[in-house]
Amino acid sequence: MKVKIHTLFEYLLETTDAAPEAIVGFSLSQSPTLGSFMDDLDPDLPLDWNNRDFRGLPELRDHILHHAGLDGVCDRKDVLITAGAAEANYLAVMQLLQPGDEIVIETPGWPQADVLARAIGAKVVKVHRREKNGWQLPLDALEDAVNAKTRMIFLTNPNNPTGDLMDGETLQRVVDIAAAHGAWLLVDEVYAGLEWDGPRAPSVAGLYERGITTGSVSKALGLQGLRTGWLICRDPQMVMDAVILRENSSEIMNIMGEVIAEIALRPDRYDKAMAEARAAGRRNLARMDAWVAAQPMLEWVAPRAGLIGLGRLPENMDSGAFARFLLADPYRTFLLPGTAYDQPGHIRLGVGGGAGVNLDEGLDRLAKGLRAWPG
Ligand SMILES: Cc1ncc(COP(=O)(O)O)c(C=O)c1O
Repeated sequence: MKVKIHTLFEYLLETTDAAPEAIVGFSLSQSPTLGSFMDDLDPDLPLDWNNRDFRGLPELRDHILHHAGLDGVCDRKDVLITAGAAEANYLAVMQLLQPGDEIVIETPGWPQADVLARAIGAKVVKVHRREKNGWQLPLDALEDAVNAKTRMIFLTNPNNPTGDLMDGETLQRVVDIAAAHGAWLLVDEVYAGLEWDGPRAPSVAGLYERGITTGSVSKALGLQGLRTGWLICRDPQMVMDAVILRENSSEIMNIMGEVIAEIALRPDRYDKAMAEARAAGRRNLARMDAWVAAQPMLEWVAPRAGLIGLGRLPENMDSGAFARFLLADPYRTFLLPGTAYDQPGHIRLGVGGGAGVNLDEGLDRLAKGLRAWPG
């Protein structure tokens, strides 16, 4: 088994040294500083592992269940702390999928399951979200794609990169489709908490015994560098299998990540941070929406959740070439081309990152770059 590079990571590697002066399309809220946690940190904390539980700090796991609306539905033992949602997804896919199994994924979507499934030698079946349908997941196509060989369905909710959101009713229909064939249903909800036109969707771990919820403190709270996320599942063997693989990869959790995440998820602090993140997200998305409306060369379906969405370029304009053109002088502006998501005619637009990304300047330069595009 060899894991091959995906176009999304290829582009990030290619452009790491570019030193852009502005970024358009950042997916996480402004990151807090270490200083903002100092008052709650214990200087005598030993920098060994937590010495309490291989699943992670118990009080951190309680906060996670609480914010996911799973109090009384799931138990502490159903939660495993991981190195971000990325590791949670990794553990689940690697332990559940065998060569020859089928996995159903969405496109556009987060590419991790596709990459891992191919390395395993599983068959990847794609369900297409279409822009003309507001990027919604087509449930009839999902139903057609799932069969007795389907071992897992892997979805994001809210969706990366379109910002579409499945509500509780839709999720229940997805659960019914999975349950009809006994398939595992992993829903990555790393962008949860940033919903703009309705409530947070229910977590699938509470809806289905074979439902796996993954998430992290990376996006809405901007704490990506802590590398702290989670996996929630009511199937004890599934969680145990994840613990076993983790023992053989990162072994234990990052103690600073766990401790700071626990502080960040304490209800008072969390409510305040989320209120700020939501206010900034709403304000900036309104600006972005008005900006897109004023661009003759761009259209988009504004995200229903999260901080990113896809902007459609004029026909035959290649997003990979345009992203490189925009990153070079004189624009020096970074954005992710839709080629990273099998959407070569789109670019990823977004409003995260706070003051550091220089969004207004980025949008200005993007507008100029579009006008000057020679292609
Ligand atoms: C849908 C999705 N899942 C997982 C991740 C990885 O997140 P984390 O930092 O929690 O590992 C990302 C990051 O961009 C993402 O967009």
